[in-house]
Amino acid sequence: MERILPATDENIKKGAKILKEGGLVAFPTETVYGLGANVFLPEAVARIFEVKGRPRFDPLIVHISRHGMVSRLFREIPPLAEMLMEKFWPGPLTLVLPKKEEVPDIVTAGLSTVAVRMPAHPVALKLIDWADVPVAAPSANRFGHLSPTQAEEVALDLGEGVDLILDGGKTEIGVESTIIMIEEGKVFLLRPGGLSIEEIEKWVGKIETPPSSPKVLSPGTLKKHYAPRIPLYLFEGKIEELLLCDLSGIAIVSPFPIADSREEIKVLSEKEDIREVASNLFSVLRELEEGPFRAIISLTVEEKGLGRAIMDRLKRASSGYVKVQDRKLIV
Ligand code: TXA
Ligand code: MG
Repeated sequence: MERILPATDENIKKGAKILKEGGLVAFPTETVYGLGANVFLPEAVARIFEVKGRPRFDPLIVHISRHGMVSRLFREIPPLAEMLMEKFWPGPLTLVLPKKEEVPDIVTAGLSTVAVRMPAHPVALKLIDWADVPVAAPSANRFGHLSPTQAEEVALDLGEGVDLILDGGKTEIGVESTIIMIEEGKVFLLRPGGLSIEEIEKWVGKIETPPSSPKVLSPGTLKKHYAPRIPLYLFEGKIEELLLCDLSGIAIVSPFPIADSREEIKVLSEKEDIREVASNLFSVLRELEEGPFRAIISLTVEEKGLGRAIMDRLKRASSGYVKVQDRKLIV
């Protein structure tokens, strides 16, 4: 397909020109592929919502390539935010702070805050730098589907709607950025992601979860999200018991190797590396939804470090837990 081009400098320049002129360009970041538009062109941003089938109430993350660009987006930058930008940008950390008036309402879904991050990927950084404008970009999937970690997955989900897809290979981290909001000197977690909370807490102390009725809508508040097209269930019991059940038509996803080598078991990291688990999660779920299975059962990981983001996505992608009783699966 012509729309996917390798991310050479020449093609990135094409992308930058398209963005400047109000088109849509999909590009790799270190987390997942993003679908970008010039943040200051509301009509271009509106196309993002159309192409993704995304409700207008779900705000976008704005991507920048140099520290100087934040001053076009944030009204002011508290010292805590300054420090986090210094430590973690470029990287998988998104900061939510009060926005400047110039940031169009369509980007923030009418909120008075804007979410910003500097991705750690040379293609993304060049693209934004050469377009010389902050780029609003959600993940480049159909709304509610799994985020894409490869250029072909973007094409499958969004097809004709995108003007150019820059192919930079498979993304390294594989789950989206960690989103935090800073308010009155406090740090709130809006979405666990590629940067672990433990890592951020080393610098800012305890991170809080937002009050139960958050003023903001984060993807976290949509219970079902990031889902494959066939049902996914989670399993936390003894794997030996699960394997005694009739598993015809069912694929098993196991983060780490298990002592059984049947074909329908997909191991996310043979070398037991949690980063590899995250990196393969969405692409393996996408592969499995293509068939020949009618459902997926995934084993879980411990909810710490990157495991927190992995479990967040798995829970959101799933229809709950499955149990085993008398060699039968019960949902
Ligand atoms: O890793 C990532 O973050 C990827 C890559 C492309 O950078 N992007 C991404 O975007 O995951 P998206 O649209 O799939 O998720 C962005 C989420 C929104 O669903 C929204 O809930 C939250 O960020 N968000 C954006 N602006 C916000 C704001 N002002 N306040 C609170 N949450 C906000
Ligand atoms: Mg998304």
